[in-house]
Amino acid sequence: MKRKIFFSAFFIIILAIAGLVIWRTYQLRQISMRESSESASNNTSSVQKTSKDSTISNSGTQLFINASQNKDGNTATLGKELLGDIQYEQLNLADYHIHQIGQSSVDKDQFDTVFRKMQDAKNIIIGTPVYWSDMSGYLKTLLDRMGEHEDGSLRGKNVYLLIQGSDPSDAIRPITHVVEHISNTFQMNFIGEATTDEQVSNLHDKLFQNSR
Ligand SMILES: Cc1cc2nc3c(=O)[nH]c(=O)nc-3n(C[C@H](O)[C@H](O)[C@H](O)COP(=O)(O)O)c2cc1C
Repeated sequence: MKRKIFFSAFFIIILAIAGLVIWRTYQLRQISMRESSESASNNTSSVQKTSKDSTISNSGTQLFINASQNKDGNTATLGKELLGDIQYEQLNLADYHIHQIGQSSVDKDQFDTVFRKMQDAKNIIIGTPVYWSDMSGYLKTLLDRMGEHEDGSLRGKNVYLLIQGSDPSDAIRPITHVVEHISNTFQMNFIGEATTDEQVSNLHDKLFQNSR
């Protein structure tokens, strides 16, 4: 009788140990599955972060230089139309002190700041109002000063031109000529100019391709 009780107790203990081993193995498996799924989701979020970061760092690849006295005037509106959903940075030349060529020794000059932004961009959109049948003085001053940096740092950039005026017909050719000339000198690609809605829409398609 004693022997029977002993074997029964022994059998129950063995069963309990086997149960414990199975339960512990199951627990460890659950932990390891949880850890690997957490590490996979961490990897995914780092990929998203990278692509988000690159969106941020690419946000400056389209630089719209607004050469109007008005930061939100007709020239800026034409720029908005051209860029549509494409991310861009608007630089209002009216916010910067850029001295005339030959006056650049004066302290407050901000030409280098503007030029660095041009160096960082892939697509440079220049928008100018027509002042007395010509580009604005803001833009002419910037272009004159660019000669200080003929160092190849703008090579390969794409240039787009927007001309805004109440009756700009006589100004389109001369302004375009100057911007094309300077693009060639700096080995940039002059993509085209636009004044009318239809031209803006055609230029938008080219910009869209080049911004991808
Ligand atoms: C000083 C000055 C001169 C202008 N000369 C011309 C001109 O010769 N031809 C023209 O079509 N528009 C001319 N305009 C009109 C502007 O080009 C037009 O109003 C433009 O839409 C202004 O753009 P904004 O709103 O970005 O300033 C002139 C405007 C100013 C302030």
